[in-house]
Amino acid sequence: MLTFDDYREGASALSEKLGGFRPEVLIILGSGLGNLGDRLTDPIVIPYREIPHMRFSTAPGHKGRFLAGRLGGRNVLMMQGRLHIYEGWAAEDAVFPVRIAKLIGVESMIVTNAAGGINTGFKPGELMLISDFIKLNCVNPLIGPNIEKFGPRFPDMSKVFDREYMAKFRAVAEAKGENIHEGVYFYCTGPQYETPAEIRAMRLLGADAVGMSTVPECIAARHCGMRILGITLVTNMAAGILDKPLSGEEVIEAGNASSERLSSYVEEFLERM
Ligand code: HPA
Repeated sequence: MLTFDDYREGASALSEKLGGFRPEVLIILGSGLGNLGDRLTDPIVIPYREIPHMRFSTAPGHKGRFLAGRLGGRNVLMMQGRLHIYEGWAAEDAVFPVRIAKLIGVESMIVTNAAGGINTGFKPGELMLISDFIKLNCVNPLIGPNIEKFGPRFPDMSKVFDREYMAKFRAVAEAKGENIHEGVYFYCTGPQYETPAEIRAMRLLGADAVGMSTVPECIAARHCGMRILGITLVTNMAAGILDKPLSGEEVIEAGNASSERLSSYVEEFLERM
């Protein structure tokens, strides 16, 4: 298990590589959504492999590096590529960057992801503000000795996603003429896509979208008191809704197709934040 000293070592290495730059917001970029990084002029680039105790990204469309710079009038730290549990990383590894960001003073997190639409009112290419999540499996970054310096043994999860941030992001999208959805994200570890029976079960349980990321990071971020905005891009309809198989290529392509639009919303959200 990682100890608090390991997080501290990771945080000091990150801080050192950032020089005097002090990020306020951590932005985690989902599949195909990595080009928000292009909006930073002269970013500080830090490959994950240069941070002690940190794992690296192996998923397609995930570069595996931090980018730091100014965006929307804020100092941001971006993860161009996240760490997924399906890559073989432990849950605590997947949330390591969130915790070291907190240790260097980051108090807010924006997470984006690609997900399958379970709600049949959704269409690929549409955005959903995450209002809550469902995680019924045992994967959990907080299992193990609690690190009190991050948060309590039994943290409250009754409002994981910040209501003020949600309203502001919605206002940004509406000002651009887009009405976005709001809904519940169901977390599956993957890497296989779900079965149609699983999707029907998730719908009965109240889920609107399904994906293989985000929830571990949000649990760790709430544990240490960060404010969170979660945005899902519906890249495909979930298994069994349409009569066609799901593919990773389709997800990346749909991510790329919406990346510019979502990036512009995030930038404007940062201005209003
Ligand atoms: N299921 C799980 N994860 C996903 C999906 C999906 O349909 N689409 C994008 N990520």
